[in-house]
Amino acid sequence: MAETLTVNLQERSYPIFFGGGIQQAVRAEIDRLARAGRKVAVLTDAHVADRQRAALAAMFGDAPRCTVDAGEKAKSVAGLGEVLEFLASHGLDRGGALFAVGGGVVGDLGGFAAAAYLRGVDFYQVPTTLLAMVDSSVGGKTGINLAAGKNLAGAFHQPRGVFIDTSLLATLPPREFAAGMAEVIKYGLLGEAALFAELEAAPLTVTSAGLAGVIRRCCALKARIVEADERELAKDGGRALLNLGHTFGHAIEQAAGYGTYLHGEAVAVGLCAAARLSQKLGLIPAGDVARIDAVVKAHALPARLRTPLALPTLLAAMARDKKVRAGLPRFVVLQRLGEAATRQDGITPVLVEACFREVGAVDSL
Ligand SMILES: NC(=O)c1ccc[n+]([C@@H]2O[C@H](COP(=O)([O-])OP(=O)(O)OC[C@H]3O[C@@H](n4cnc5c(N)ncnc54)[C@H](O)[C@@H]3O)[C@@H](O)[C@H]2O)c1
Repeated sequence: MAETLTVNLQERSYPIFFGGGIQQAVRAEIDRLARAGRKVAVLTDAHVADRQRAALAAMFGDAPRCTVDAGEKAKSVAGLGEVLEFLASHGLDRGGALFAVGGGVVGDLGGFAAAAYLRGVDFYQVPTTLLAMVDSSVGGKTGINLAAGKNLAGAFHQPRGVFIDTSLLATLPPREFAAGMAEVIKYGLLGEAALFAELEAAPLTVTSAGLAGVIRRCCALKARIVEADERELAKDGGRALLNLGHTFGHAIEQAAGYGTYLHGEAVAVGLCAAARLSQKLGLIPAGDVARIDAVVKAHALPARLRTPLALPTLLAAMARDKKVRAGLPRFVVLQRLGEAATRQDGITPVLVEACFREVGAVDSL
């Protein structure tokens, strides 16, 4: 029997299932839906369809399946249209349910399609990347990218259930696993010092016995944060804390050109920059900055830019961040290892530039 953790959001509450027996848990849910006369459809991408053929067949049999191209380009207006037309062509009605089986791209796209189709049908997440298991499958943020930027259209739409089976990670490319580790390190830094210390003592790999337990702890941290601030409305702290490393990371991703860094790789450099910001604000000692750099590197992630980026480009990208309010981004800083806070005052462009410089940015190229 799979273990569960509940995300408590009143009528939008849902279970996250972990561990062995996940495929049976998915089948049981599909049987339950079928008994109630409800149709089920599946969304996945080409890599997952290819590499996880047997698991998909075991879970979903011959349920209608939409397979989008792998990668970020599926999370687009065109990709959304494809999924909506697929749902309509299979006659899903208001009782229908969509299972999104894949990484964050499939989860975000499927969730948004489910939010929009017939003004909202149920959806379930079956994450197949580490990033999706610890982050994107939980919390109900769904959406697509626009030409003007990432995640610019979307909806809050919580899944009805999340099914996490680490055996699906066996076929994930190592670089993608490492990218997911950036988010795991982030959770340790923002909410669980013991987790950070464990990663420091022994880097986590796809074959680590403790992997499933670590994923569960990350989900528990995310669930508690989302429960307290589902729509990221808290004036201080709240869901915004999950953006630790992301204000710097998004700027790096954009300035380098999307695709140069995987999201998690840019977040890894971003965590190292955020550590420096925290140190410069007098919150953490230099020794902690070095510890963070070391843990990032030990997980096959970059602590510095691979090739220099120009400061003006990075700062311009940062100013376009969709979380910017009144011209200045709100940063997430570390109060200590294991505790984060949001902060805006006292953070000047000069300070931010100094942090970027220390992770490899230059005045001009
Ligand atoms: N909704 C949220 O809260 C949230 C949070 C973080 C990130 N995101 C979004 O998530 C997306 C990134 O997600 P991602 O890193 O999972 O990327 P992804 O979905 O593109 O997956 C990465 C690559 O791995 C492949 N893949 C997935 N599972 C596999 C498996 N088991 N075996 C072999 N290959 C597999 C995919 O086809 C793809 O090529 C971004 O669009 C980001 O904006 C959303």
